[in-house]
Amino acid sequence: MRKTPVTPVQVTGTVLTTRRVDAYHALTVVAPGIAERFRPGHFVAVAVGGARTSSLTRRVFFVHDVKPDYGGTVEFVFTVRGPGTEWLAERRARDTLDLVGPLGRPFPLPRDPVGCVLAGGEYGSAALFPLADALQRRGCRVDFVLGAASADRVFGALRARRMGETTTLTTEDGSVGMRGKVTDVLPGVIADVRADAVYACGPMAMLRGVTAVAVEFDIPVQVAVEERMACGTGVCMTCVLPVIGDDGVTRMVRSCVEGPVFRGERVRFDDVGTIPFDALGAPGGGSRHAG
Ligand SMILES: Cc1cc2nc3c(=O)[nH]c(=O)nc-3n(C[C@H](O)[C@H](O)[C@H](O)COP(=O)(O)OP(=O)(O)OC[C@H]3O[C@@H](n4cnc5c(N)ncnc54)[C@H](O)[C@@H]3O)c2cc1C
Ligand code: FES
Repeated sequence: MRKTPVTPVQVTGTVLTTRRVDAYHALTVVAPGIAERFRPGHFVAVAVGGARTSSLTRRVFFVHDVKPDYGGTVEFVFTVRGPGTEWLAERRARDTLDLVGPLGRPFPLPRDPVGCVLAGGEYGSAALFPLADALQRRGCRVDFVLGAASADRVFGALRARRMGETTTLTTEDGSVGMRGKVTDVLPGVIADVRADAVYACGPMAMLRGVTAVAVEFDIPVQVAVEERMACGTGVCMTCVLPVIGDDGVTRMVRSCVEGPVFRGERVRFDDVGTIPFDALGAPGGGSRHAG
């Protein structure tokens, strides 16, 4: 069953700490309203550029950690990509940030204590640690598969080794773990640990591959997608992607409010970035019921 989204709040939070974690930056912000509503898989939308900026759209980041300190703190981890993340990387303790969150639908948790493989790519792994925590509190077994282009971009390897029953690392350049991609080792891990479910967060290509593997093993897979977002709150339609509903009909859904977590096999990865002809309301098309 899909969880009803929580009501997000807008907070002007003080930066508590900034730190480098290998290739990434991590910011911890005092944001009590967001911390107390947070569930694993939620993200925050952060205003960038300061009060006089021409940068109108917020930048979105998965929440990596929340703590009860100072009434509630939120940590997110990011890589510098363009002007917004460059500006964030220059923030220092005691600066203030304007955050909206928690946003999106979180990862659904299994009712029973089952075995879960958590597959993370690059900074996407950061979203999996609060999930691992929640799963373990329910008695679930957690195994990690974390991958990236190179060793400095594999996020959270040490913590995964502490938390997971097993941790398998992959890098495309072979600088740590197995040379290759998460999807190269995933079938072996699922088979070895007899996993009942897969959760994944990372680049879209990885999510597509992880979904294909889970479907092959006939086990459920939940993916947190990373479609480009502008508002993060359901207003602008920037983040739509084609998703198959319970009725077999494809709809263009907003990944910021209906996602970012979806059942992997419901996302039409091959059609992301397009409006498939058979999507409900597609120009010149029409909905087709499956079967
Ligand atoms: C739900 C969600 C969660 C996210 N969580 C994180 C996170 O935890 N850590 C993190 O580092 N980043 C995360 N991102 C991506 C992050 O939002 C972008 O990196 C950021 O907005 C870039 O802003 P910028 O101004 O620095 O770069 P921009 O100038 O906006 O973009 C620079 C370049 O990156 C490309 N780009 C921007 N956003 C994306 C994207 N979402 N996917 C693919 N290419 C993109 C642009 O096309 C452009 O070429 C997340 C995105 C989504 C949708
Ligand atoms: S980002 Fe604006 S509707 Fe999703």
